[in-house]
Amino acid sequence: MRSRGSVNSNPFIPMSEPNIPQKSPIVQKTEPGDYWWCACGRSVKQPFCDGSHKGTEFKPLKTTITEAKTVAWCACKHTQSPPFCDGTHRTL
Ligand code: FES
Repeated sequence: MRSRGSVNSNPFIPMSEPNIPQKSPIVQKTEPGDYWWCACGRSVKQPFCDGSHKGTEFKPLKTTITEAKTVAWCACKHTQSPPFCDGTHRTL
């Protein structure tokens, strides 16, 4: 298991470890709108929240996409730039 140590400047990433649905991003064409990215890794509707975080310290991250584009959503839940993939999955 990868440790974050005591440094965690991202308020959307709790100190406990999220589940890792997959060690690669979910890349998909995304239309403009509001999206709730799953931060806990428990949702069965990855990369989005389905309410499965209830009872954990995790909360989904609301993200507004302003124009249609291809998005690489983080699916390892360890990105340092949520909700987007930053390549961290390669280190897990
Ligand atoms: Fe994971 Fe809601 S199900 S944050």
